[in-house]
Amino acid sequence: MDSVRVAVRVRAFNQTEKDAGCVCIISLALNRITIWDPRNRRNTKTFTFDLAYWSHSGFVRNEEGILIPDGPTSKYADQRKVFNDLGQELLSNAWQGYNTTLLAYGQTGSGKSYSMIGYGPDKGIIPLTCDELFKTIKQNQEADKQFQIYFSMLEIYNEKVIDLLSKHPGGLRVRENSQRGFYVEDVKLVPCENYNQIEQLMEEGTRKRTIASTNINVTSSRSHMIITVQFKQVFLKDHLTKQSNINLVDLAGSERQKTSGSEGDRLREGTAINLSLTTLGNVISALAEIAMGKRMLHVPYRNSTLTKLLQPALGGNSKTLMIATVSPADICYEETLSTLRYTERTKNIQNKAVINENATERLVQELKAENAKLQLKITKIRNSGKRVEEETAELRRLLAGNELLLVEIQTSWEQRLEKAQKEWKHQFVNLMQERFMIQMFPYLSNVNVDPQLTAFVRHFIQDGESVVGQSGNFPQAIIIRGLGYVETETNFFKKYRGVVGMPSGSFSKNIAEKHATITNQNSKVSLEPHGQARVILNGVLIHTKVKLAHLDRLILGSNSTYLYVGYPSERNNEDLSKYDYDFFQSELAKVEGFDREALGHMGRNNRSVDPSVLAVLYDYIRVKPMVVEANQISGDLHKDFSFDLEVKNLALTDSRGSDLTKEVMVKVTNKVTDQIWVWSKAKFVNRKFIMEDVYQRFVDGQNISEDRENDPFWDPIEAVHLGSAYVWLQSLSYCIVLEEHVEFRNSQGKEEAILQMNLVPCNPSGQPLGEKEILIDPTELVGHRLDFQVQITRCLGIKWLKENIKRGIQISYRVLNHPYLFHSEPVWNTVNAKVDHTMQFAVKCVSQELLNYLQNHALVLDLWGLQEGCEEMVFPGNFEVTDKGSIIIDYVGSQLLSNKDEDKGDEQFSELYIKLSKLEQETDLLRNINRTLRNDNVMLQTAINKMSDDLSLASRSGGKPFHQMNPQLFGWRSTSKASCEVDFAKALKTFYKSMNRVQSQISGLRQHRPPVENDMELLQMYLHKQSQGIKNFGDQLESCINKLKNDVSFIVKKKRENTTRPGENKFHSTKRSLSEV
Ligand SMILES: Nc1ncnc2c1ncn2[C@@H]1O[C@H](COP(=O)(O)OP(=O)(O)O)[C@@H](O)[C@H]1O
Ligand SMILES: [Mg+2]
Repeated sequence: MDSVRVAVRVRAFNQTEKDAGCVCIISLALNRITIWDPRNRRNTKTFTFDLAYWSHSGFVRNEEGILIPDGPTSKYADQRKVFNDLGQELLSNAWQGYNTTLLAYGQTGSGKSYSMIGYGPDKGIIPLTCDELFKTIKQNQEADKQFQIYFSMLEIYNEKVIDLLSKHPGGLRVRENSQRGFYVEDVKLVPCENYNQIEQLMEEGTRKRTIASTNINVTSSRSHMIITVQFKQVFLKDHLTKQSNINLVDLAGSERQKTSGSEGDRLREGTAINLSLTTLGNVISALAEIAMGKRMLHVPYRNSTLTKLLQPALGGNSKTLMIATVSPADICYEETLSTLRYTERTKNIQNKAVINENATERLVQELKAENAKLQLKITKIRNSGKRVEEETAELRRLLAGNELLLVEIQTSWEQRLEKAQKEWKHQFVNLMQERFMIQMFPYLSNVNVDPQLTAFVRHFIQDGESVVGQSGNFPQAIIIRGLGYVETETNFFKKYRGVVGMPSGSFSKNIAEKHATITNQNSKVSLEPHGQARVILNGVLIHTKVKLAHLDRLILGSNSTYLYVGYPSERNNEDLSKYDYDFFQSELAKVEGFDREALGHMGRNNRSVDPSVLAVLYDYIRVKPMVVEANQISGDLHKDFSFDLEVKNLALTDSRGSDLTKEVMVKVTNKVTDQIWVWSKAKFVNRKFIMEDVYQRFVDGQNISEDRENDPFWDPIEAVHLGSAYVWLQSLSYCIVLEEHVEFRNSQGKEEAILQMNLVPCNPSGQPLGEKEILIDPTELVGHRLDFQVQITRCLGIKWLKENIKRGIQISYRVLNHPYLFHSEPVWNTVNAKVDHTMQFAVKCVSQELLNYLQNHALVLDLWGLQEGCEEMVFPGNFEVTDKGSIIIDYVGSQLLSNKDEDKGDEQFSELYIKLSKLEQETDLLRNINRTLRNDNVMLQTAINKMSDDLSLASRSGGKPFHQMNPQLFGWRSTSKASCEVDFAKALKTFYKSMNRVQSQISGLRQHRPPVENDMELLQMYLHKQSQGIKNFGDQLESCINKLKNDVSFIVKKKRENTTRPGENKFHSTKRSLSEV
């Protein structure tokens, strides 16, 4: 039994992580890796692996350009170190005749390809292992031993197997037989004699992968690459062959699609893109459980192409290694942790490797022995002199057949080598020619989303005019085949004549037949787009002729990305890797108005960019080109859908109104019916892959008519979230009725409608509480029952309906921690909707936690846009109600307050917060004054009670109590108490009402975003509006507090006047504290 051996490698920060000022959250000691939660350093987890590599820090580049440790104490693990462990182990297994496999697992960009293949001079395990293999062979040459090496390179994408070394497009079949298990039929196995040939094959394979990836922009992060080096040692004398398959697998990116929101996508087929990776996970889990002694009946190898091919590597006849690559950056915490957990599970898997002896060698022996016997027979017959011609002929035929078989078995290696030799020569000529061109001409160099596939395609710009486009029918053509390339248009239309689902009319290409012209005159290069062709130069859409300068960035059509490399005299040995895909897309996003500033980053903890903002920016630049392509596909397939990328502000759903996270989402519009859908990023990415699949079939000339259920464009009509409104709950804790007009704001902070609603404290039977019942000290509520009504009266000026009157709205909200979402009845076909919704709630016993919650949280109301044919929200099921029909809220404090420490220190608003908290302090002070007043009252009350007791004792005749009998005497006290408290309550009511407005204003300010266009005037307008907003906010705050101060001092004065005689001394202290206010 051999366990799968696992290694983990921690890479250096990439540029994005450096820009973001990311923090390293991993430490490594020997083979133990510790990772901590960036939000809570004490939350650490430690994992132990067979091997662990620190490639994060402590390195320098040597004169050959290779990264090496920067000194004797550095713990940096360079490529050589990783090879010395993993590569050498593969080789040792191979020499012994075991099959051996190395899998690279990790999130996209974590360093799988860097470790497996490498970049430039930093060669990875595969080249170093192959190089070493040939070196060792050279040292072990023996007369009666022959070494044979075959190389193959496959890609699995969307369950299809593509041979990267074959010129033929299209997929290969996976077959199964009892002897070989699963295998790929007709895979090209290239015999190799030296390392250079392997290097050349890898380049060729990568180029094919690159071209496939740019044609339909399949992202390589979704595909798996399998390189197999078949190593045979033939012992000629002993007629023995030891054979080992060295499988080197660069797996698809392991990142999980964050399924935000409630929707898992209706269309599951999209997961086929990752079916192989998902199944691999299931296979590994099943095998790990078996290894832990669990009885598992079924390991789902057959569920995906990848796991079929890897069956020997996982639990079968192979010695298997895995290298898991991770980023140590805080922004990758979730993914890194998930990779470490996955890898930990893998190390439990048990394999049973056996030494492979080749059966064909025994066959040779048997054939030879049989031939010897046949020969003997023939000789015997001839010597006997009998004429048995028929018999001899049959024997001769048998003999010849056997000879042929023998020749094939024995000489196939030499034959194959000879055949391969011809191809090598051809390739060598091509290679030399390209090297020559690089030194002669400027060129366009491809830039792929995967850096591993960047700079594999070069288009040279020769003297004169070259036409850039899909067509090669020009004297000098630069053929660029973007999304939707078909061989020739005429072929295309021949294919589609009469095909169901074939769109009528013209086929709008992403890359036009004639997309642009590049002119090279007197060594000056310029580019001119044709007609409406999309050409973006350094982030800017161009329509006229422009000069090209060395290192200009070009995007042609929806997403064909190239770096212009000038004449050799213009080149300065620059590091071209700086101009990666992200560079292009960030440049474009910036011109479109999306950069860090626009997304409103708030510096915190001295970091330049908030990681969550950075993550959104990153999502934006990654999803944006996909959205462009989706629009392209939709247009080409004559679907009526358009896609728009938007940044959604999740603050809208947070009841504290904090700026939590943002998220990209895609708005889908049916241009004909005006119906709208909002897709999460995960859903869009999933659909986009299915669209690509449909599109590929369309381009291949297949029938693409789908039933609705499988159509990636189709979705049931659903309600659209338009915006949210906040109604602060504070007034409830004072039992003050709140009558509100608030805005529903959308995710961009813009007003969608005005909500008219009331929050009404009431008694259990629904009678609103009067002014006399207003609480001045809300802590009195603790331990008591609280009843209140949510009344939604109107929703006015609804934009959704202004756009299309056939639509409707519904308003939903959640009350405290109640599990159900409540909502109003739908209202259709009116811009100003009369809603008329009342719902009563009861908290049976108010806790201190609930009180705290009411003080600084809001009731969040969501406005939903209904459209023709969509389902309305139905009322939730059975919940607990009081005998009067109020809905009971069972409040558990901790549930609501869990995100208490997630407070963000927004510098921009800190000043306002300081004002607010001062205000709160002042309110506290007023509350204290009130308490003192109450104590006075209680004392007076006790005195009165005592007096009345004394009096009633004196007049036993049994009449009315004394104070009732003498209202003139005692009346002033009770009315004073009542009138003071009611005045106070009124003042507070006014105060909280205006506070509510102030709080709405602050959330309005937070969501007010600068304009997307890069226009000075608009910016100035924005600035003006923003400063006006802040000024208004300040003024309101000021006037609120002044009003309260005035009211209170008036009340105090009134009370003092009334109390001068009995309570004189006590009021001095109160007065002092008031004057300090
Ligand atoms: N150990 C490492 N040291 C330095 N750079 C690395 C390392 N691992 C990865 N990188 C860099 O990170 C980027 C992404 O790595 P890559 O191997 O292509 O990721 P993956 O194949 O996992 O998607 C590349 O630019 C690569 O040069
Ligand atoms: Mg890769």
